[in-house]
Amino acid sequence: MSTQIELPEERYADELAALAAGDTGPRPPGWRLTPRAVVQFVMGSAPAGRGKIAITPKYVGDPGLVERCVVTLAGQRGLMLVGEPGTAKSMLSELLAAAICGTSTLVVQGTAGTTEDQLRYGWNYAQLLAQGPSEDALVASPVLRAMETGRIVRIEEITRCLPEVQDSLVSLLSERRIAVPELGDKSVAAQQGFAVIATANLRDRGVTEMSAALKRRFNFETVDPIADIDAEIALVTRQTKLALEAASVDRAVDEVVVEVLVTAFRDLRTGVSREGWTVEKPSTVLSTAEAVAVSTSVALGSAYFPAHADGIRTLPGHLLGVVRKDDAADAGRLRGYWDAVVRRRAEDGQRTWRTLWQQRDDLG
Ligand SMILES: Nc1ncnc2c1ncn2[C@@H]1O[C@H](COP(=O)(O)OP(=O)(O)O)[C@@H](O)[C@H]1O
Ligand SMILES: [Mg+2]
Repeated sequence: MSTQIELPEERYADELAALAAGDTGPRPPGWRLTPRAVVQFVMGSAPAGRGKIAITPKYVGDPGLVERCVVTLAGQRGLMLVGEPGTAKSMLSELLAAAICGTSTLVVQGTAGTTEDQLRYGWNYAQLLAQGPSEDALVASPVLRAMETGRIVRIEEITRCLPEVQDSLVSLLSERRIAVPELGDKSVAAQQGFAVIATANLRDRGVTEMSAALKRRFNFETVDPIADIDAEIALVTRQTKLALEAASVDRAVDEVVVEVLVTAFRDLRTGVSREGWTVEKPSTVLSTAEAVAVSTSVALGSAYFPAHADGIRTLPGHLLGVVRKDDAADAGRLRGYWDAVVRRRAEDGQRTWRTLWQQRDDLG
């Protein structure tokens, strides 16, 4: 048996061990690696010499951004990653946590129902009733555990939490201590290495409403979609290959499908085709993460259904599924893209685009 999702600290355990072995420089208190090695883990690198291993490139984007994230955490400030959905904010926070403190599992998922207890501590009520408040009955939140052990805690989608819940982080981040008045003068002080990485989606619109006090405790970094088309194609190809392997499907990734798919996603995401023609943008986010999901579905469909061996023919149906989930009008925008961009490329004699144009009816 193997788990469905491996944690980065498990999946890349050999890379982390190799980086730690040769990592002799000064490091921030409580860190497992030097800042440089952390950036190397996230961005990847070729083998550094004989007998050395290659570090897989993981985050595709600006190394400067990753360096700034690392510097923020080294300075014990909160790090706030903001951006559109599907730009690898969560992935980046996991990778940083795994490299810096060895675990990415201390996490609080922010929702409208997140309570202060989930950021501080709660009680095991059976024990509380039986014995009264005791260390044993205390249920530490991931934040408290991160403080006690000098690790990184991740707070996902922080702007979805109610303002008063967000504000309970303010005192915690400035005092770097959680008091437990129920246990007399017990309080837990943050050990060296403790830091917070929060993520926030711009689509949630809550970022500007975050209280000034909380904003001041974080350094903000905006994570943008992948700028370079070749890098995005390479990433989607790599991820699709991994997904096929995970499904035990012995099949090569159809590179033509990935190229067409990434091109269409970028045209629709940016509102301009690569030729410079205007495209009406759907309101749905067409992120790289969505491109990976569609590419994987197309590849698995081709593997499991021989009738769909030519994956390109199933692409319109998958795209329709993606754009229609937020806004029914997006289906019309997708047809507009077909009638303008796909048709012109087909008329220019581009074979795959001709196939796509022939599937126009699949868009309803
Ligand atoms: N710049 C990028 N580098 C690497 N992977 C990316 C990038 N952008 C998107 N992805 C893909 O998107 C997936 C999901 O991203 P995720 O971290 O959940 O996004 P977010 O938290 O921003 O919504 C990643 O696992 C990866 O497959
Ligand atoms: Mg996320």
